[in-house]
Amino acid sequence: MTPVVVLVGPPGSGKTTIGTLLAERLGVAFRDTDADVERAAGRTVAEIFTEDGEPVFRDMEERAVATALVEHDGVLALGGGAVLSAETRRRLAGHRVAFLSVGLAEGVRRTGLSTARPLLAGVNPRATFRTLLEARLPLYREVATVEVDTDGREPAEVAESVLAGL
Ligand code: S3P
Repeated sequence: MTPVVVLVGPPGSGKTTIGTLLAERLGVAFRDTDADVERAAGRTVAEIFTEDGEPVFRDMEERAVATALVEHDGVLALGGGAVLSAETRRRLAGHRVAFLSVGLAEGVRRTGLSTARPLLAGVNPRATFRTLLEARLPLYREVATVEVDTDGREPAEVAESVLAGL
């Protein structure tokens, strides 16, 4: 089995919204590796970050992505930082991968100060988000087979662009 499409992109790029919409359009299931990690751990992502730290979360995430890539044949969304793993980037080769991009202002606006996103819950979410975007942009582009800008666009329009790029 292989996912119809894998969605990557920073927090606030709309992976869950667009992924759910795409799955509906295609008549397939939607799966999200953050939810897989939470189910396996019996804790939220935020709890794992607080109690065990980011490296432990990244290991769990890497395993969840590896499993989902072979188990799931629908739409698969990865957590925003999943591409930080070289192993995950290697595993994504040969898959259809859509990079949902978002600009700084819109990304900050969409994510707000949600404590559900531990990496963005600090004192200066805008600066954190900028650093995160700069560091990850090349990694998203490395794995993507199509890049779709989500800034100022309706989910339905973004979903159409992803489908057109598959
Ligand atoms: C993270 C993004 C989150 C989640 C975790 C870390 C990141 O997923 O995996 O909080 O490093 O960008 P979303 O991209 O779905 O918010």
